[in-house]
Amino acid sequence: MIDHDVIIVGGGLAGSRAALEIVRTAPSLRVALVAKTHPIRSHSVAAQGGIAAALQNVDPNDSWKAHAFDTVKGSDYLADQDAVEILTKEAPNVVIDLEHMGVLFSRLADGRIAQRAFGGHSHNRTCYAADKTGHAILHELVCNLLAKGVTIYDEWYVNRLILEEGEAKGVVMHRIRDGQLEIVRAKAVMFATGGYGRVYNTTSNDYASTGDGLSMTALAGLPLEDMEFVQFHPTGLYPVGVLISEAVRGEGAYLINSEGRRFMEDYAPSRMELAPRDITSRAITREIRAGRGVHPDGSAGGPCVFLDLRHMGQEKIMSRVPFCWEEAHRLVGVDAVHQPMPVRPTVHYSMGGIPVNTDGRVYSSATDLTEGFFAAGEAACVSVHGANRLGSNSLLECVVYGRRVGAAIARYVQNRKLPEINAARYFKETTDQFQALLDQPGEYRLAEVRQAYQDCMTEHCGVFRTEAVMQEGLAKLKQIQQQYHQIRLDDRGKVWNTELIEALELRSLMVVGEVILASAINRQESRGAHSREDFPQRDDANFLKHTLAYYSPAGIDLQYKPVTITLFEPQERKY
Ligand code: FUM
Repeated sequence: MIDHDVIIVGGGLAGSRAALEIVRTAPSLRVALVAKTHPIRSHSVAAQGGIAAALQNVDPNDSWKAHAFDTVKGSDYLADQDAVEILTKEAPNVVIDLEHMGVLFSRLADGRIAQRAFGGHSHNRTCYAADKTGHAILHELVCNLLAKGVTIYDEWYVNRLILEEGEAKGVVMHRIRDGQLEIVRAKAVMFATGGYGRVYNTTSNDYASTGDGLSMTALAGLPLEDMEFVQFHPTGLYPVGVLISEAVRGEGAYLINSEGRRFMEDYAPSRMELAPRDITSRAITREIRAGRGVHPDGSAGGPCVFLDLRHMGQEKIMSRVPFCWEEAHRLVGVDAVHQPMPVRPTVHYSMGGIPVNTDGRVYSSATDLTEGFFAAGEAACVSVHGANRLGSNSLLECVVYGRRVGAAIARYVQNRKLPEINAARYFKETTDQFQALLDQPGEYRLAEVRQAYQDCMTEHCGVFRTEAVMQEGLAKLKQIQQQYHQIRLDDRGKVWNTELIEALELRSLMVVGEVILASAINRQESRGAHSREDFPQRDDANFLKHTLAYYSPAGIDLQYKPVTITLFEPQERKY
């Protein structure tokens, strides 16, 4: 058994920022961070467009309160406003702190940090490093972790949260290189495990975004919050689904349909291409359904629309969004200086997650907290994004709440002893679980079951939803779950057995997908990213509340908790 004061699972922005805060405030604590890739390959590295903060470098009329209002309105009034107030008030300070650590932000002519327009934000407040902002921030954070002596377990897969009688005590982890199993005991466990984009067949997320932290939390008997709210980013590059940053539209690109029209004037005339993502993704889907989509060759009636940058000119394209140009050129052979890019919505972000308070402590019910367990970033639901996140608020959440949760953990562990764990029991249970999977004499291939599952979720719980379509999806999902118990693995060894890891990840994906579907079926209204064609209106009387879903193999129990409203009363949401 390995002992640490704090074990953080997840090497992206939220986990790294928390680890750094702990060692900054309490240097004697033994802090470890475990990640299934090297931390600098965590999905945060792929974040492109920027990080929002009312710095007032470009727009002197901006304020934390304007940022808070935009965030709450963007959330379709489901965000908890106390959490949004913290997010937006602390934003300028966390960005300056990053700059002091050495993050290379793009600059204005006078040397201050540049800020650009982004969807749903009423002021130019998104700070950026060209279109590689996550890369710039994560590299600096990870360098700082190494310098401060945080122990890093890279390429270890965490398979289980050890939670006994309402207290988190550690994790079970498996070294991918050689199959070594370890039980880790800690005074505090933090999950910063990111999202679950791979629940769907088309996503901007990397292959590692398989919702493992959410699944381990649910399997330990804790609730997941607001999982029905799945964000579709409007501009996934067709057909691959990788992200073409909103920064491209922030810098002036147009969305056009097969008639050559900027169709956003029909859906959000005051914001056009910079409407929030839920509205823009629905608009693109409606254009495609109405036959006004395009094929990549420009002919009408296709499965995508065009993102047109040509009027921006080569110099602006290459200096502000060079990576997006490169992606389109490399992956689909489009030179965006001269040709429009084919795009359509792609799964991008989870508004829901592990329910936490504003110190990152995990709830075990609507009111009670779990001892020793913390979460932050995309895996958590604090909830600052409610039913729909604004672009550039997620990097912000990671660093504001990563820092806060790190400080809270440093305080929390001062008065805590290492818990007692029966390590032999967890070791044996995990060894038996892996061996059973390796020995399974199944008839299905892992890849075919995963593909069927991802296709099912994509077809049955997409941008638009109805009860009938989702119930059909749930029934299919149950059948696919049966097939999971009959998969056959070819690799039965211990060394670099990525097939075993993929099988464990598929289990995570299936738990998460079932929670998404059950939560979505029960929310009989349309709010933010959850758009029900059978219940097209928002229904504050019955659904201005957060979902809490408790998973068990026998079924999912759904409960609800109130939304915190402190600053802005819910209004009709128009752009
Ligand atoms: O479009 C983007 O660059 C994504 C930003 C975000 O999700 O915050």
